[in-house]
Amino acid sequence: MSFDFFIPCPRGLEAALAAELAEIATRHLNGAPFTAGAQVPGGVHFRGGWAAGMAANLHSRIASRVLLKIAHRPYRSEQDIYALALEQRWEQWFSARETLRVDVTAIKSPLRSLEFTTLRVKDAICDRLREVSGERPNIDTSAPDVRVFAFLTATDCTLYLDTSGEPLFKRGWRLDKGAAPLRENLAAGILRLTGWTAGTPLYDPMCGSGTFLAEAAQVALNIAPGVERRFGFEKLKQYEAKTWQTLKAAAMDAKHAARASRSDLQIFGSDISGDMLIKARANFERAGLSAVSLKQVDARGMAPPSSEPGILVANPPYGERIEVRGRNARGELRETRENRDDDSFRRVQEEAPDSEFFKALGDALKQRFTGWHAFILTSDRKLPGQLRLRESTKTPLFNGALECRLFRFDLIAGSVRQRPANDTPAA
Ligand SMILES: C[S@@+](CC[C@H](N)C(=O)[O-])C[C@H]1O[C@@H](n2cnc3c(N)ncnc32)[C@H](O)[C@@H]1O
Repeated sequence: MSFDFFIPCPRGLEAALAAELAEIATRHLNGAPFTAGAQVPGGVHFRGGWAAGMAANLHSRIASRVLLKIAHRPYRSEQDIYALALEQRWEQWFSARETLRVDVTAIKSPLRSLEFTTLRVKDAICDRLREVSGERPNIDTSAPDVRVFAFLTATDCTLYLDTSGEPLFKRGWRLDKGAAPLRENLAAGILRLTGWTAGTPLYDPMCGSGTFLAEAAQVALNIAPGVERRFGFEKLKQYEAKTWQTLKAAAMDAKHAARASRSDLQIFGSDISGDMLIKARANFERAGLSAVSLKQVDARGMAPPSSEPGILVANPPYGERIEVRGRNARGELRETRENRDDDSFRRVQEEAPDSEFFKALGDALKQRFTGWHAFILTSDRKLPGQLRLRESTKTPLFNGALECRLFRFDLIAGSVRQRPANDTPAA
């Protein structure tokens, strides 16, 4: 039996997700049905059996969720949506004993209140289950057993049953988040965009809680992103439990083999904050990734951690969420809002420009990272000017609602492309 699935992902990563899904089908599905579908802004469609849906949950690093399509029809009013939801055989999937949450997202919908529409979908599902079983499910918005998503365009409504449960960026091993961690699925997507492959040196000089490093180490060690967690489909009445056991057992075997392996991963991280490195280490420990090498270094004084050039990837501190730290040109220390109680930082000079930090970072890249390819994610479009480097490419990506660019700098010997500080960037 085949189903239509939709996999949402961070905007900008649709093609990377489609490529990842094709790889998952080849590596983990042993010929079970899988047909790639359209890429649309914010996600990818595909058609496949339960095995494909479960494998996508277990193995996709870039997916936010895996949604199973239940119904699709044009609508004009909330009543049309209520009728569509009431007609569906929800009782095939779950009973009134499971708790429920409904979410509605809309693009250009003419309906006035999404909140009211959400209530109507919830009422329809509860009314349907009461009709067939005499009981209504309870609503639980924080940890529901079952989630239903309704997606509205200007004309059509699609109802989806969520097969993931907690969003897939939650890998199940993160203890400590740090100040501004990247979501794991965005970090994994960026790694794919850099073209990094296991064995090539990878360095994050502002690694924070270590999201890029953990994703890369798991790729190198062949550890499935979902091996530590549970999924929404495990609460549904019908999913192929035997196929799931086989998929999960193979992923567990790979994880155990990874724990035993002593390979030199060539994955390196540093950060100016010792606290962050403690958090990163605790996370790696829980994820079974003790082979990642970490050091406390101010990024302006960074040096290549490997003899071979490789890929440098980072999302530096920006704006309100997290500030640059370390000594400025006058040797004064800067403090962060998050760490006022940390003795090593003292609030100094409100006017201290971050451009000083980025100029020094650019100098470090130009002087010491010949042959490397640096990828920097930021919401600040002026970054190349501040680094005094000209980017080779810039890829728009969304970090949640925040529009960012992934800038690529090719630090090729003798031809590092410099740009003057006042060079205005294109969008
Ligand atoms: C946006 S966070 C990076 C988050 C990280 N990618 C993660 O997922 O957890 C920026 C990091 O830059 C670090 N940082 C700030 N100033 C620095 C400096 N001068 N040198 C090195 N790291 C610095 C902060 O401690 C923080 O961990």
